[in-house]
Amino acid sequence: MATLPVPEAVKRRRAVRHFKPDPLPPGLLEELLDLANRAPSGFNLQPWHFIVVTDPSRRAALREAALDQAQVGEAPATVIFAADPDSWHLHLEEVLAMGKAEGAVSPNYERQLRRTVPPAFALGPLGLLGFLRGLFLPVRRLFTPTPTLPVSRSGLRAYAVKQTMLAAQTFMLAAAAHDLDTCPMEGFDEVRVKRLLGIPRRMAVPVMVTVGYAADDLPPKPPRFPLERKLHRERF
Ligand SMILES: Cc1cc2nc3c(=O)[nH]c(=O)nc-3n(C[C@H](O)[C@H](O)[C@H](O)COP(=O)(O)O)c2cc1C
Repeated sequence: MATLPVPEAVKRRRAVRHFKPDPLPPGLLEELLDLANRAPSGFNLQPWHFIVVTDPSRRAALREAALDQAQVGEAPATVIFAADPDSWHLHLEEVLAMGKAEGAVSPNYERQLRRTVPPAFALGPLGLLGFLRGLFLPVRRLFTPTPTLPVSRSGLRAYAVKQTMLAAQTFMLAAAAHDLDTCPMEGFDEVRVKRLLGIPRRMAVPVMVTVGYAADDLPPKPPRFPLERKLHRERF
């Protein structure tokens, strides 16, 4: 199937709010998710999960949890992007094993990851390590460049969400490249969505994306600020 080049796909993509009922060609959704799954992530920890909803009655229930937004009921599929704040320890060993098998992780990098990742993310019993890190980091910053690290459960969730949004954007651009339409959505009740789809409570759901074929001509593209408003050369 012919696909659009990246700049064309970026320009084609827009938030579409009404979809035809036409199903996607078999296998295409998996192909798009395979592309989304190639998104970058810190330490390659890949904290995302993709929950695909196509069943009409589940779509109807999802629409209700998504504040009755029509696109969820109309589009043939909605992908829920879930972010796991615990992927830093749940995935680390597998990430290292896969990386070593492909020659992408050297012994040196493995040592570095093992030295860096657990101290950076572990919160310890009652969040004590995170609390202490929260006190220590600003002091350390006085003497040496210090990255912002999670110091709480909400910090870990924010970290996982940051990575997962890159997968969501990759998914939308891949869909646009295949002449499909999408709508990213944050207008939903996260607790209800998690309950409906059996997503573990610890996970965050930053976005869901409906995918299919626009019911009407593509809507006009909402304008962006001129680049000069947003582009800062050398300094803010
Ligand atoms: C994280 C995120 C959440 C959004 N949530 C919703 C939503 O709940 N419902 C909706 O209709 N559009 C939603 N949008 C779409 C935006 O309104 C839309 O992207 C924006 O107006 C720019 O238009 P464009 O995507 O067509 O370029 C969301 C977009 C993003 C990135």
